[in-house]
Amino acid sequence: MSEKVLILAIESSCDDTSAAIIEDGLLLSSVIASQEVHAKYGGVVPELASRAHQQNILPVVDIAFQQANRNINDLSAIAYTRGPGLLGSLLVGTSFAKGLSIALDKPLIEVNHLQGHVMAHYIHPSDEWLAATNISNTALYNPPPLPFICLLVSGGNSQIIKVSRNQHQHMPDMEIIGQTIDDAAGETFDKCAKMMGLPYPGGPIIDKFAAEGNPHAFVFSQPKVPNFDYSFSGLKTSFLYFLRDNLSSNPHFIEENLNDLCASLQHTIITILLKQLDRVVKKLGIKNIALSGGVSANNALRHSLQVYGNKSSCEIFLPLKVFTTDNAAMICQVGYYKFLDKQFGSIDAPPFVNTQI
Ligand code: KG4
Repeated sequence: MSEKVLILAIESSCDDTSAAIIEDGLLLSSVIASQEVHAKYGGVVPELASRAHQQNILPVVDIAFQQANRNINDLSAIAYTRGPGLLGSLLVGTSFAKGLSIALDKPLIEVNHLQGHVMAHYIHPSDEWLAATNISNTALYNPPPLPFICLLVSGGNSQIIKVSRNQHQHMPDMEIIGQTIDDAAGETFDKCAKMMGLPYPGGPIIDKFAAEGNPHAFVFSQPKVPNFDYSFSGLKTSFLYFLRDNLSSNPHFIEENLNDLCASLQHTIITILLKQLDRVVKKLGIKNIALSGGVSANNALRHSLQVYGNKSSCEIFLPLKVFTTDNAAMICQVGYYKFLDKQFGSIDAPPFVNTQI
């Protein structure tokens, strides 16, 4: 067995099949096969996602080893996303990881997908990985100091998480302070995009059109949620009725106002996100704020959070865009810390589908 700690991670919770390898804390490879098959359905079709994972997983792991230039027999452990996610998709990754663990007689490490998104900030790219990608190496490794508040916004989750040091382990403690009581921010982007006839995933397309639009052109409803939770279903319904009413008098309303619609919708989502975040920052008094999850690729959200940070004297940590949407590098980062903490998983552990941390 190699002296070095070599971790392979598998991520298959939704519609991206991904594998990554970290050696002694440095990322050597990260391979993602995204599934185009869902675009025409306006959302992820679970059965198609599971089938695509089955087709992709072996080549993706194979390429991850080729790019890392490491031998599978030198692995120290195999980390995998146990949940939350789509059951059929998770089953492919968990079964593959368990099979490999038995075949190679290497320990398993269970990783919570949401903890992975938070820990994406701690991914430390190796020189080999940097050389193989076109990503500039400026400010690549800038992990937020503990404690910090993480605004985690993805396709299935919108959460505000307090992340603090644990004296006894490498993995920090995470506590959910607020979370969505209905739809997630990413889901709202995707569903509203579908209402406008735009393809899935809607977030990046709305981001693009919004850059040319007026964020104050239209006003949509904002929720009144008592504690630190989020709600986006009211906004979604108000957007639907607004489109329906305007289309009844002008069938070309969407195409004539696409940029303004996208900008106004995006502005409302960001306002809702930052309002609750501000309440948490004031309550906890923590001045380090990190953004995570697929929606953290959103240009206006990144900009608005920077502006918020300047106004409220908070330091803002933005993830590298390649690590915002689902990827195994973030799973591998958690896997590496859990390996150091000797937190190994069980071959009997079933996937879990619901949000927990
Ligand atoms: O983190 P992720 O890959 O999947 C989950 O773990 O849920 O996030 C996917 C979500 C989708 O809803 C997608 O529309 C959204 O992230 N997204 C964006 C952008 N890029 C991806 N939303 C807004 N603006 C973007 N640029």
